[in-house]
Amino acid sequence: MIVSNSMGHTFRITSFGESHGRCVGVVVDGCPAGLSLTPAQIQRELDRRRPGQSDVTTRRREEDRVEVLSGVFNGFTTGAPICMLVWNRDRDSSGYEERRWTPRPGHADWTAHVRYGGFNDYRGGGRLSGRITAGFVMAGAVARRLLAETLGVEVLAHSKEIGGITAPDISVDEIRTNVEINPVRCGHPETAERMVERIKEVASDGDSVGGVVECIASNLPAGVGEPVFGTLEGEIARALYSIPAVKAVEFGLGRGFASLKGSESNDAFTVKDGKLTTETNNAGGILGGLSDGMPITCTVTIKPTPSIGKRQKTVDISKMEETDIEIGGRHDPCIVPRAVPVVEAMVAVVLADHAIRADLIPRVLEVRE
Ligand SMILES: Cc1cc2nc3c(=O)[nH]c(=O)nc-3n(C[C@H](O)[C@H](O)[C@H](O)COP(=O)(O)O)c2cc1C
Repeated sequence: MIVSNSMGHTFRITSFGESHGRCVGVVVDGCPAGLSLTPAQIQRELDRRRPGQSDVTTRRREEDRVEVLSGVFNGFTTGAPICMLVWNRDRDSSGYEERRWTPRPGHADWTAHVRYGGFNDYRGGGRLSGRITAGFVMAGAVARRLLAETLGVEVLAHSKEIGGITAPDISVDEIRTNVEINPVRCGHPETAERMVERIKEVASDGDSVGGVVECIASNLPAGVGEPVFGTLEGEIARALYSIPAVKAVEFGLGRGFASLKGSESNDAFTVKDGKLTTETNNAGGILGGLSDGMPITCTVTIKPTPSIGKRQKTVDISKMEETDIEIGGRHDPCIVPRAVPVVEAMVAVVLADHAIRADLIPRVLEVRE
């Protein structure tokens, strides 16, 4: 494959749009017919990713009203491609002309310039901007509904760590209860307060911080995945690495496995309510690239927002001379809270694709009156 804006086999998404172009969106192909779907359900997810939600996110104010252009009729999916988009209205492209020749450190300006020979839309990162994840979230909203309606699968994420401040291990119930009631989307309210303080502190210094999103997908049956090159871990990781600013993905104990013995890290098998299960979930719900019936757990490391107010060294590529820049504009001092719904979306898209491939979801759903 020589182009890479599509992902998935049976539940396939194609992403389009640029940060300062006319719109961003997604086409979802392969969604079974008969899934009840309303714009309000997609909007609910989009609102969680939207800029301008609080004083710890960007001041760019996008309304981000979803338009569903095809694939849904009388409130149900038809089985045809579902095209969804949001228009870019609050486009402040001032400053991007002069910055065209001075790539931002940590951003994709320079690599995109090289790859596309200078024809790329360089405004606000263009195609390689966090804004394209609005399309990911729209696709994720469809996938989440499909998984929830057919299998009872729930995909839930929260901010586990921001700027070196880490939440303790908490239950899925605590995450569900608390994640939307604080601006940093941390499932542990006391830690959330400290995270907010930390973000405000670095933001007042013109700087940014990164962190970690923890994601848990519950109720996925065992046996889902396509070893050896389509392992569940591999495909989820690939989807997560398509989110701008993601720099590490780990499953279960992740790097923690390195310092343990087999006797400490193996998840012992046991029987509960007549079903095989494991006593612990160090593996993060995946063995041999296949789901083992335990929750899929992963952590996603997000780097600090590259666009910062502090003066930074760069190169004027029109003259190949060293210079420096101070980036104005409206940027999140921390991407992590807005990445939470994006992580959930990408995990859901991969699980929907694999659940259809595993014949767990029929191509036409039974429509309930
Ligand atoms: C939801 C979201 C919002 C983002 N917002 C910004 C932003 O306001 N400013 C910025 O410089 N980078 C932002 N980013 C990150 C950049 O898009 C990303 O760092 C850049 O494209 C380079 O890609 P890489 O970090 O994966 O190498 C955002 C990312 C996401 C997921």
